[in-house]
Amino acid sequence: MCGIVGYIGEKQCTDVILSGLTKLEYRGYDSAGLAAFKDKAIETRKFKGRLQILDENIKHHPIESTMGIGHTRWATHGAPSDVNSHPHTNEDHSIVVVHNGIIENYLELRERLSKNGYKFTSQTDTEVVAHLLDELYRGDIIDAVRQMLSIVKGSYAFAVVCKNEPDKIIGVRKDSPLIVGLGKGENFLASDIPAILPYTREVYLMQDDEIVVCTRDGVTVYDKDGSEKPIEIFHVTWNAIDAEKGGYEHFMLKEIHEQPEGIRKTLHYMPEDKDEVILGDVKITKEDLQRYNKVYIVACGTAYHAGLIGKYLIEKYARMSVEVDIASEFRYRNPIVDEQTLLIAISQSGETADTLAAMRLAKNNGARVMAITNVIGSSVDREAQDVLYTLAGPEIAVASTKAYVTQLVSLYAVSLHFGLLKGTLTKDEYIALRRELYHLPGYVQRIIDLDKKIQNIAKEHKDKEDMYFIGRGLDSYVCMEGSLKLKEISYIHSEAAAAGELKHGPIALIEEGTLVIALCTQDFLFEKMLSNIQEVRARGAYVVAFSKRSNEAITKEADETFFIDDMPDDITPIPTVVYLQLLAYHFATERGCDVDKPRNLAKSVTVE
Ligand code: M6R
Repeated sequence: MCGIVGYIGEKQCTDVILSGLTKLEYRGYDSAGLAAFKDKAIETRKFKGRLQILDENIKHHPIESTMGIGHTRWATHGAPSDVNSHPHTNEDHSIVVVHNGIIENYLELRERLSKNGYKFTSQTDTEVVAHLLDELYRGDIIDAVRQMLSIVKGSYAFAVVCKNEPDKIIGVRKDSPLIVGLGKGENFLASDIPAILPYTREVYLMQDDEIVVCTRDGVTVYDKDGSEKPIEIFHVTWNAIDAEKGGYEHFMLKEIHEQPEGIRKTLHYMPEDKDEVILGDVKITKEDLQRYNKVYIVACGTAYHAGLIGKYLIEKYARMSVEVDIASEFRYRNPIVDEQTLLIAISQSGETADTLAAMRLAKNNGARVMAITNVIGSSVDREAQDVLYTLAGPEIAVASTKAYVTQLVSLYAVSLHFGLLKGTLTKDEYIALRRELYHLPGYVQRIIDLDKKIQNIAKEHKDKEDMYFIGRGLDSYVCMEGSLKLKEISYIHSEAAAAGELKHGPIALIEEGTLVIALCTQDFLFEKMLSNIQEVRARGAYVVAFSKRSNEAITKEADETFFIDDMPDDITPIPTVVYLQLLAYHFATERGCDVDKPRNLAKSVTVE
């Protein structure tokens, strides 16, 4: 949610800021703005709408400047508009702020500052901070920022510049990501690493409550009491190209195509030359597992859908009782958590506010917290006791694809590891399953190669306003993911139903021409799915079915069928979901939707 870029050095700052914001636009695209030092003043430009509008403006009216801050916004307080766009300033424009997050006590602060004569121009919570800094400023902006931190409540990352101190950019964070890029004669601030990768690979990952001061010559980090802290540099090994579109029309399509590779990399947790699972930083022992009487998996959105499959796998292979919770529900429902609880948090970004809150709740009650995340150095990574990285590489598209499949591979690894440790899975069983898992990259590639066929379905049905996904067992969870993917990028209303539930209500929605996607990959439930298909077709539904190649009987029952290779039931979610990702993608493009930047959404949800 919202992207921040700050630059101080010798380059034209608007070039660096705009190129950085392009990489961060996935975080929000309601408006964009920047502030740059020019002739001892700070010039601010900001516009509602996509970054391109700001970009065009700067092209036609350049600002000669080597230091500035920029922002791309996902609106929380106040509708998207020029005036609500960041940066925000105090009245004489001498203090300028960009912000990601939410100031929870902004109304109270706004009231007090208004009483003291401050005039507000926007509806945002951020403007409060600009005026508050003005009130606190006594000639030292670092000191004003430090005082401000003890007054504002909420989650935030800020970049602040001050006209009277034109040699520094200040960054602070609490529960919202902010990183520092270290260069030679230049330094950077950003919400995420891709923004600064063209310039440097040396990064400092800021901690909560730290204040960072970037000048041309260096970076200093202070804790909230003002003591200087050592800087631990993190060297980024992945390539800037990994976060570029690389010739694909959309990031989402590129990321779908990267899935065989992501799966291959994540499978390394189950090396072929060893008869054990090696989970790197996960230090959970056999004795620990014997102690836990409850496992929770908490996550949001797509990661939650991965968690549902994780529950199935851990219960089956490790015989541990698992509850899966939506993080925003878990944190407010007073769950039973203690020292005998293991909580597994799943998050692509590692910055999702609700998932982090759920982790903290569990930790505060004595639970062991393990995380599965795609982002090294993210808040989830830092706060968990044990971490397993999904090796998907940077995921940029708002619609999560490669992160989901690598979360699933990680959950296979975790469940099989726990099973081996507990003795509920034999080595031979493990080796047989691992052998099957290693076929997954090939299975997935074969589906990607059928892309054109999937596109035809979308072409034919693109005007549908409703779609239903039905399945049983593991397929029912994949249906949930397929339905989410479709609605978030194509805006087609869709629902996922466990097929056995149809008769209990959802079948009332089926009428002549309703499009139903039926997943039938679970052999032991196949006959039951055939009955469900007959039931919806009898009511006029047009059924597109997905099944294993050997279950050919399906072709007689469905209007159209797509096949996956024959494989054990437990691993079908990975290839099957790839069909549904492509389906969602093509529906969205056929309907002219902006696939990578769907309306109202942002990639990482760092506010509640
Ligand atoms: O970064 P996280 O995995 O914690 O994000 C969780 C959800 O916000 C995310 O999966 C969201 O549902 C995606 N847009 C789905 O495609």
